[in-house]
Amino acid sequence: MNNLRPVGIIGTGKYVPEKILTNSDLEKMVDTNDEWIVSRTGIKERHIAAPDQATSDLAYEAAIKALESAGMTGSDLDLIIVATITPDSSFPSTACILQDKLGAKGAAAFDLSAACSGFVYGLASATSFIQSGMYNNALVIGADCLSRITDYTDRNTCVLFGDGAGAVVVGEVPEGRGFKAFDLGAEGAGGSLLQMEGGGSRLPATAETVENKKHYINMNGREVFKFAVRVMGTATIEVLRKAGMERTDVDLFVPHQANIRIIQSAMQRLELPEEKVVVNVDKYANTSAASIPLALVEAAEEGRMKAGDTVLMVGFGGGLTWGASVLVW
Ligand code: UT7
Repeated sequence: MNNLRPVGIIGTGKYVPEKILTNSDLEKMVDTNDEWIVSRTGIKERHIAAPDQATSDLAYEAAIKALESAGMTGSDLDLIIVATITPDSSFPSTACILQDKLGAKGAAAFDLSAACSGFVYGLASATSFIQSGMYNNALVIGADCLSRITDYTDRNTCVLFGDGAGAVVVGEVPEGRGFKAFDLGAEGAGGSLLQMEGGGSRLPATAETVENKKHYINMNGREVFKFAVRVMGTATIEVLRKAGMERTDVDLFVPHQANIRIIQSAMQRLELPEEKVVVNVDKYANTSAASIPLALVEAAEEGRMKAGDTVLMVGFGGGLTWGASVLVW
C-alpha cells in the first residue's frame, strides 16, 4: 500500500442507547450472577436500544458526530458503508436508509456483513475505493442491535451482548499517515459455531421457526473462544508483517471487545502493556460490528492517540471471519 494515495480517518463519532442493563438486572432474568459474568467475560453492563430505535437510528447518531468532527455534511459524502448483522430489515439496506437521513444525495451506499469483523472489512473496502481514485471519501459505520436477536432466556448468550454504533469518515490524509496494511480472512467451515439460522432464504420465518427460537443468536462459546484466541494472535502478527512493522511499534491496540480473557491472551502473546490496550467491554459488552469503532472513538475522545501514533485494530466474529489493520493516526 506504500506507493498509493495515503488514506486514513478524518472524523469520528459514537453512540450508545441510554438504557443500561446491568449484571444484577440479568440475575433477575436468568440463572446467572455478577461474579460469573465478570470473572468469565469482564462485562459489568451493556446498553440496550429503546423499543423505537433500530440500527439505522444508532448509526445516524454516530454518523452525525463523525461528519461534524470531519467538518463535513452528508452532501459531501461519496460512499456510505454500514457494517451490520442486524439491519433495520433485509432491504432496503441500512446504508440506504442513512443516505436519505443524512441528505447524502450523491453517495453510493451498501451494507456489509462480516459480523464483529465488519468494521475492519468496511475500512479496508473504503480505503481501496479511495486509493483506486473511484471516490474521495467514505463514511464507515459499525452498528448493531444485538439485543433484537438475543434470547433473554439463554444464559449462555444473553449476558454477552449490547447495542451501539461507531462511525468514522475515511479520506485522504498527509503523506506518512493513514492505513499501512490490512489482513482480512474467513473460515467459512466454522459458520455454524456462531449463527442465526432463521429469517433468510434457507429458513424463512414461520410460526415454527419462531417457536424453535431460530431467530436468535446461537453460539458454541468454547469453540469460538479458541478461534478468537488463535486469530487475534495470527492476524496481528500478519498485519504487522504486511506493514513492515514490529509489535513494539504499536502505540495503541484496539481489539474487538468480546471477552476480557480473549483480549488478555492477545496482550500476553504480543507482550503489550496495559496502557497500550483499549478496553471498554466492561461498559458496553460485545456490540458486534460497533465494538472496534466504539473502542477506537472512545480512545480518541480520551486523547489516547496523537498524530503519528501507530494504532492496531483487530477483530473476529461470525462467518467465521477476522480483520486487522495498521493505521498511523
Ligand atoms: O464476537 C464473537 C462472539 N463470541 C465470543 O466472543 C464468545 C467467545 N466465547 C466466550 O467468550 C466464552 O466461551 C463464554 C463467555 C461464552 C463462556 O465462558 P467459558 O469459560 O467458555 O464457559 P463455558 O461455556 O465452558 O461454561 C462453563 C460453565 C457451564 O456450566 P457447566 O457445564 O460447567 O456446569 C455453563 O453452563 O458456566 C455455565 N454458564 C454460566 N453460568 C452462569 C454459562 N453461561 C453462564 C452464565 N452464568 N451466564
